[in-house]
Amino acid sequence: MASPQWADATTEALFVRACADCHSNRTVWPWYSNVAPVSWLVQRHVDEGRSKFNIHVPGFGRDADEAAQQVRSGKMPESTYPPLHPTARLNSAERAQLAQGLAATFGDDE
Ligand code: HEC
Repeated sequence: MASPQWADATTEALFVRACADCHSNRTVWPWYSNVAPVSWLVQRHVDEGRSKFNIHVPGFGRDADEAAQQVRSGKMPESTYPPLHPTARLNSAERAQLAQGLAATFGDDE
């Protein structure tokens, strides 16, 4: 399994909190993902997220260099996610730090 050379431990920790469920192979499936039709929606979401950016595939997916920008602009994590996963809520300092760390780790498309 590929894995990134994280710029620092904080970046990795924030990523695990806010992104890893949809952008790594280490998804922690929530209980409601066992209940159809939610299960199909969650699976589709994770498949789609991973297809663009997955820290466990070689090269990390074609949109890895957009990760910093997605965080900076507030597009990621997806707005439906933090309400269900409170640990994914990022305050503005954490958001800035994660964006900077992602840019250092995966490059910055901007
Ligand atoms: C609940 C699932 C989920 C979480 C959590 C999540 N993402 Fe995503 N992500 C997606 C999905 C689905 C897509 C594909 C749809 C889209 O581009 O909006 C995506 C797309 C992306 C893309 C590609 C954007 C593009 O325009 O092609 C990047 C980069 C990304 N996410 C980074 C992140 C980062 C960084 C985090 C954490 C701060 C994160 N995501 C959290 C589901 C998620």
